[in-house]
Amino acid sequence: MALFTLLSKLTAQENIAHATYSGASSTLKTYEMFTEFVNTPHIDDESKGIDAPPDWPSCGQIEFRNIVYRYGPHMPIALQIENLKIEAGWKVGIVGPPGAGKSTLLNLLFRLFPLKGVAPKSGGVVTIDGVDIATLKLDTLRSAIGVVPQEPVRDAQPNSHCMPCMAG
Ligand SMILES: Nc1ncnc2c1ncn2[C@@H]1O[C@H](COP(=O)(O)OP(=O)(O)OP(=O)(O)O)[C@@H](O)[C@H]1O
Ligand SMILES: [Mg+2]
Repeated sequence: MALFTLLSKLTAQENIAHATYSGASSTLKTYEMFTEFVNTPHIDDESKGIDAPPDWPSCGQIEFRNIVYRYGPHMPIALQIENLKIEAGWKVGIVGPPGAGKSTLLNLLFRLFPLKGVAPKSGGVVTIDGVDIATLKLDTLRSAIGVVPQEPVRDAQPNSHCMPCMAG
């Protein structure tokens, strides 16, 4: 009986030790991911860049060239495009399964995440009317284009105008 009690105590302690180790290991992994995310320059420097030519954007032709994008140095490729040219005036639907990279395409068009500098193996060029958008001041780029976000938006103000927006 005493031996049984001792054994069950040991097993319980082993379980506690195992649970503690698993918890610590998972906390360490979370900490590592958090540190990597925090240390990754996800936001472009707003003070850098040039003004666009006065008549830019003139037509609205968009081109993605040689895009390989990762959200972090050790993250998998989120978007890969060899060449995508959207001619001025075209209406284009981007379709694909969840996680295919549709939102990432828009993120890169608005430079919500910089294409270069986030991960060593990320890169490529996005142009609007022949101008590499990476060379522009952030507000110059964003004041020239518009987006309707995927998530529905509802104004919190009572009695105000409410516009639910849905996009792909
Ligand atoms: N902010 C982020 N940080 C890290 N990885 C991300 C981030 N946003 C997307 N990803 C990853 O990038 C890949 C492409 O995701 P993305 O959101 O662009 O796909 P999607 O086609 O828009 O999917 P959905 O149809 O679900 O909206 C996925 O593997 C996703 O997990
Ligand atoms: Mg999406």
